[in-house]
Amino acid sequence: MNILVIGNGGREHAIVAALAKSPKAEKIYCMKGNAGIAELAELVDVDYCDIKAVGNWVDAHKDVEYTVIAPDDPLALGLADELESRGHRVFGPNKKAAEIESSKAFAKELMKKYGIPTAKYETFDDYEKALAYVEKGKFPVVLKADGLALGKGVLICEDLASAKDGLKQIMLDKAFGAAGNKVVVEEFLTGKEFTPGEEVSVLAFTDGKTIVPMIASCDHKRALDGDKGLNTGGMGTFTPCPFYDKETADEVMNKIMLPTVAAMNAEGRPFKGVLYFGLMRTPDGMKVVEYNSRFGDPETQVVLPMLKTDLLEIFEAVTDERLADVKIEWEEGACVCVVLASGGYPVKYEKGKEITIGDLDEGVFLYHAGTKRENGVLKTSGGRVLGVCAKGKTVEEARKKAYANVQKIRFDGMHYRTDIGVKYNK
Ligand code: AMP
Ligand code: GLY
Repeated sequence: MNILVIGNGGREHAIVAALAKSPKAEKIYCMKGNAGIAELAELVDVDYCDIKAVGNWVDAHKDVEYTVIAPDDPLALGLADELESRGHRVFGPNKKAAEIESSKAFAKELMKKYGIPTAKYETFDDYEKALAYVEKGKFPVVLKADGLALGKGVLICEDLASAKDGLKQIMLDKAFGAAGNKVVVEEFLTGKEFTPGEEVSVLAFTDGKTIVPMIASCDHKRALDGDKGLNTGGMGTFTPCPFYDKETADEVMNKIMLPTVAAMNAEGRPFKGVLYFGLMRTPDGMKVVEYNSRFGDPETQVVLPMLKTDLLEIFEAVTDERLADVKIEWEEGACVCVVLASGGYPVKYEKGKEITIGDLDEGVFLYHAGTKRENGVLKTSGGRVLGVCAKGKTVEEARKKAYANVQKIRFDGMHYRTDIGVKYNK
């Protein structure tokens, strides 16, 4: 089978690498890909947010039998619907189902209506009303722009002055564009005794009938060590998650995953693809912090390398709604991914820096994100540049291996966190 993968980050490199292992996969194309993906797939230079252009490309390439849509934007724009309406087979939810990520107001309403545990909230499309509500409330308070905002549309405000400023930024100054037409004002969740709640990402395959969680992983969203600095797309991940035991997984399955699948069906929006549950452990049990309509980045970079089952077989079972027939198996052990970013990320950073990579130890692998090759020279081309991944018996072993190999990679301004895999594992 010839396959087109949509996307250009580390997540897509991990997906392409997993698909390339399938005995059924022949040629893989990637739109737009990066320098790492180019070693496994033929890159296609079409803007994947132009869904008509993608449709035209797939129509014209009769050899492509299956398209995997990985990023949030094309899903939210309805790329799955566009390709399906032209008679093509697709992995990824349609536009109405993808709204579980692209509208936080919709996701919160869904959870309230179907009793799925999440932070208490109110939604506003009027600045004055939002402000009046915040003035009466408790602090910290969480403000969330309704739409997609590259993971940056969430503000945690410690006091009224910063909440006022946050509402102004989102709703009046439109710092996140149209994503801020509505705002969700949410209760701040904590762990025991007001310590930050522990967070875990659980990605799950679902065909709208069956839902099968993947192994749990933990992201590090802030730019700097000790969870300081600005929110980013994710600076590193590890699996397994030490507190995500069988009892917690059962609680999440029964109170969150199954009810979410049922709720989406009841709303006439059956979800087919990967559903991402961003969860927090609170004194009242596990709660949903966010849903995503896709694989996480950089969660995928530690989850898929542990998958023993053929990913293409799972994808096709989701598309054909026979996921219940597939046995999905995982390797034992741990995996850690350390993201190497451009200096200044997530705000302002330079591109085009030459990257040098020494001999990596056996069992260490790189997933490329913002990289490109220019006249044979590997250069940076984005904020997150590379993910250095390693497996081990334990997170500690994998972590040591990953960091030993980070030292072998250089580019001007290279920035990374030194504490990936430390939290929850101490
Ligand atoms: P999100 O983009 O929705 O995942 O939010 C980014 C981060 O903000 C999360 O990973 C949490 O650490 C934090 N966060 C979001 N909502 C809440 C909440 N209601 N209470 C506490 N922290 C939150
Ligand atoms: N790592 C968080 C996300 O993919 O949204």
